[in-house]
Amino acid sequence: MISKFENRIFCADSTKFLKKLPSDHIKLIYMDPPFFSDRNYEAVSKDGKINSFGDKWSGGLEGYLNFMRENLQECYRVLNKKGSLYVHCDWHASHYLKVELDKIFGYDNFRNEIVWRRHNSHNDTKQGAKIFGRVHDVILFYSKTKDYTWNPIYAPYPEEYVQKYYKHIEPETGRRYAKGDLSGPGGRSKGNPRYSFKGVTRYWRFSKENMKKLEREGKIIQTKKGNVPVMKRYLDEMPGIMLQDVWNDVKSVQITKKELVDYPTQKPVRLLERIIEVSTNEKDIVLDPMCGSGTTLVAAKNLGRKFLGIDKNQSAIKLIQKRLFSLKPSEHIKIPA
Ligand SMILES: C[S@@+](CC[C@H](N)C(=O)[O-])C[C@H]1O[C@@H](n2cnc3c(N)ncnc32)[C@H](O)[C@@H]1O
Repeated sequence: MISKFENRIFCADSTKFLKKLPSDHIKLIYMDPPFFSDRNYEAVSKDGKINSFGDKWSGGLEGYLNFMRENLQECYRVLNKKGSLYVHCDWHASHYLKVELDKIFGYDNFRNEIVWRRHNSHNDTKQGAKIFGRVHDVILFYSKTKDYTWNPIYAPYPEEYVQKYYKHIEPETGRRYAKGDLSGPGGRSKGNPRYSFKGVTRYWRFSKENMKKLEREGKIIQTKKGNVPVMKRYLDEMPGIMLQDVWNDVKSVQITKKELVDYPTQKPVRLLERIIEVSTNEKDIVLDPMCGSGTTLVAAKNLGRKFLGIDKNQSAIKLIQKRLFSLKPSEHIKIPA
């Protein structure tokens, strides 16, 4: 049933179209809806075509939240039990959306409020405005259950951290290392072995056999006789720091020329690749119900995932067809909005 929707794009109103999808099939939904910003967005492409979408709501905030609630309820239904949802928004309505999402997914299935710092600075602080520069968007991350797909990714350690903790350099190799404690935390109560090693008797972290192995590998240092031996922890053997919830390493301005399709509020492919890598495995289905220029679909395709894109805007669908040029005509369907 779901296969007829795989690797396809649909020109349709997501509110109606999501209802046609079967329940419990989608692994990841990334939704980048209008933000309740009370403006219309327009960008002119190099060939003079106007790409636009509106974000004005006659029903005010209540009208906007009704629209979002209807969409989010369907998103919850179509996600499978290992699935996740990421809703991209900003200060205009992020706090209202969090409340709606808590009601639909359950407060306990809220995972993160990701701060995506899209600009270094913003000119909304010019012209005498009495506010701090608004440089970040918010991405609300929920899982359908506790048992969701999670492939952790790591970022390099910050330079100050490296300088502070990995301050030793092995002269023969130039490798940076930190000195690691070899004592057994918790002593006997935690079942650590007690024996004498290099003239020091105490509870150790490893068995005597493993300590000898580390010594043979040149990983143990004893600065002088009687001192407690420590272990070399090489920087190049560490995974890095687990990615945190403030993302400032991918910026809007980094959208490459090749990637730029002049769609208003286009997001960087790298941002979407990160989300897809963490929350899906190969061949899983990624859905973007308001996919605009199709950034999510491009990222999913790059990573060997299946995709399903919906947008009510004909010009967006045309752009996506071009962007995913290698798609054969039979691989997508257009349904009039
Ligand atoms: C912020 S843009 C998405 C940008 C996209 N992430 C990108 O990188 O190009 C929001 C999109 O939502 C679409 N949209 C708004 N309401 C919709 C609806 N009811 N059904 C489908 N698409 C909708 C708009 O046409 C617009 O393309």
